[in-house]
Amino acid sequence: MSYLMSNYAPLAVTFAKGEGCYLIDTKGNTYLDALSGVGVVGLGHCHKDITATIQAQAGELLHTSNWYHIAHQEALAEKLCKLSNMDNAFFGNSGAEANEAAIKIARLHGYVNNIDNPAILTANQSFHGRTMATLSATGNDKVQSGFTPLVSEFIHIDFNDIDAIKAHTSNRNIVAIMLEPIQGESGVIVPKSDYLNQVQAICQANNWLLILDEVQTGIGRTGKMFAHQYNNITPDILTLAKGLGNGVPIGACLAKGKAAILFTPGTHGSTFGGNPLVCKTALSVLEVIEKYNLLDNATKMGGYLASNFQEKLSNSNKITQIRAKGLMIAIELNQDCTRLLNAALDKRLLINITGRSIRLLPPLIINQTEADIIIDTVCDLIGEL
Ligand SMILES: Cc1ncc(COP(=O)(O)O)c(C=O)c1O
Repeated sequence: MSYLMSNYAPLAVTFAKGEGCYLIDTKGNTYLDALSGVGVVGLGHCHKDITATIQAQAGELLHTSNWYHIAHQEALAEKLCKLSNMDNAFFGNSGAEANEAAIKIARLHGYVNNIDNPAILTANQSFHGRTMATLSATGNDKVQSGFTPLVSEFIHIDFNDIDAIKAHTSNRNIVAIMLEPIQGESGVIVPKSDYLNQVQAICQANNWLLILDEVQTGIGRTGKMFAHQYNNITPDILTLAKGLGNGVPIGACLAKGKAAILFTPGTHGSTFGGNPLVCKTALSVLEVIEKYNLLDNATKMGGYLASNFQEKLSNSNKITQIRAKGLMIAIELNQDCTRLLNAALDKRLLINITGRSIRLLPPLIINQTEADIIIDTVCDLIGEL
């Protein structure tokens, strides 16, 4: 019997140790982690530079309140803003909290513009988190089921459909649109290459804030530091988490221009958010990405994985689509493939299954040998289905 609540259904394995792309279970078996702890450990498990940073910072200072200046927090805000062309940052502890901050800024944008019932457009099949506001923003009935009344007002539109957004431009209550540049949880849904540019143009014409949720796509996952950089745009709000701490819990909400001046003292906060330990660690993550050219590696190895899957699965009648951007990869099958989760575990490979899609989010440090293991194992799994 477990004293844990039943909100997770863990697979029958417990990991005791991690090293690079590999995890070792309590029985000593080694697994290749092609999921990075769901897009978190981009630098792999227990990266030596990150471990050294955590150890040194733990011996110096873990926590002070946000009632005092925190030097590493200010340095991290500056670094992230310079990387993203944003103006300022708020730090929380998770992706959901980063998005909560974004939603609150959008509400304030409505407030200062005398909009009494502010509404935010979000996409069907999106995922923004599990808090009440972020699950209300999420475009997935399963996530919302049982939790009504939801936080109003989120209006869900089809992703990758500009006309669906244009249909709402006469609604004076809309204050923002919130999107993932690539939908992650619903199976790596990559929109048309100019979709975000068109969305931004509509936002600018209507005084809506463009909120990009890069909790999953950010910090190098797609081969650029932020996925929206493929579009050469700057959003009004950018949210980050997952890969930013390489396993240390941190979320960030970055804002620009009119969105960056709405939080004033007392409007938002978090006890743990942005403490010296997490900020120093995140600074170290960004340094490691630069030092080892991991954006280039993500592009190169992502391309290698995608092209090999295209080639090796081209004759399979079970594949309907392969979607990929950098190291976000999904292979969609013509049937439910949930049972591959355990079959992959038996082959010592960690993957994710989203309905009919196999989803892979390997660490940014992955090398060709590890990529070949993933390719061969996934192709075998599909062959045996
Ligand atoms: C795009 C996106 N936004 C938000 C979240 C929620 O992040 P967290 O679980 O850290 O609250 C996730 C988590 O998968 C995500 O993929």
